[in-house]
Amino acid sequence: MSSTPHPAAPPVVVVMGVAGTGKTTIGPLVADALGLPYAEGDDFHPAANVAKMSAGVPLDDADREPWLDAIGAWAHDRAGHGGVVSSSALKRIYRDRLRAAAPGVVFLHLTGDRELIEGRMAARKGHFMPTALLDSQFATLQPLEEDEAGVAVDVTGTPEEIAARAVAALRAFDRPVPLF
Ligand SMILES: Nc1ncnc2c1ncn2[C@@H]1O[C@H](COP(=O)(O)OP(=O)(O)OP(=O)(O)O)[C@@H](O)[C@H]1O
Ligand SMILES: [Mg+2]
Repeated sequence: MSSTPHPAAPPVVVVMGVAGTGKTTIGPLVADALGLPYAEGDDFHPAANVAKMSAGVPLDDADREPWLDAIGAWAHDRAGHGGVVSSSALKRIYRDRLRAAAPGVVFLHLTGDRELIEGRMAARKGHFMPTALLDSQFATLQPLEEDEAGVAVDVTGTPEEIAARAVAALRAFDRPVPLF
């Protein structure tokens, strides 16, 4: 992950990670702590994707392009003002597409081991995720690379603990050199 300093403007953060890692839970807490608006990435899917997902058909990369572009447009609009948006962004090409729309985005990768996430998914009301789907999420995941702006934060503990850890990591990322 890159440690390139960012301008002093509030960050535009994309909360990424596999299904069940806590994007929807932690994202709003991080946004609140930073005094920024939160947008739920799932809400940016075009109707065709919603129909596919409702029918249990997995999205392919072409399906994801308009979705990523819509999230990217939101992130672009928030540039200079700051904001937090969720998007699993598992693949580098997805993140490249988001960055193409909004070059300044900073990724917050919520990381956790499979057992922990599987347990949380099992407890989630109203959602059912087959084990195979979680396997495929981990198989697809391409973690942040050195040249990508972002931080990785472990999701052990309570949502409040994770959010505090995330805010601290984002602040440290923003100011890699101590201020005098
Ligand atoms: N720190 C935590 N401790 C306990 N439960 C948690 C924690 N974080 C999230 N959860 C629970 O785990 C489940 C998955 O979290 P959440 O829905 O936020 O994940 P997600 O990354 O948004 O998943 P998806 O990709 O499917 O949208 C939820 O039921 C949530 O309440
Ligand atoms: Mg979610």
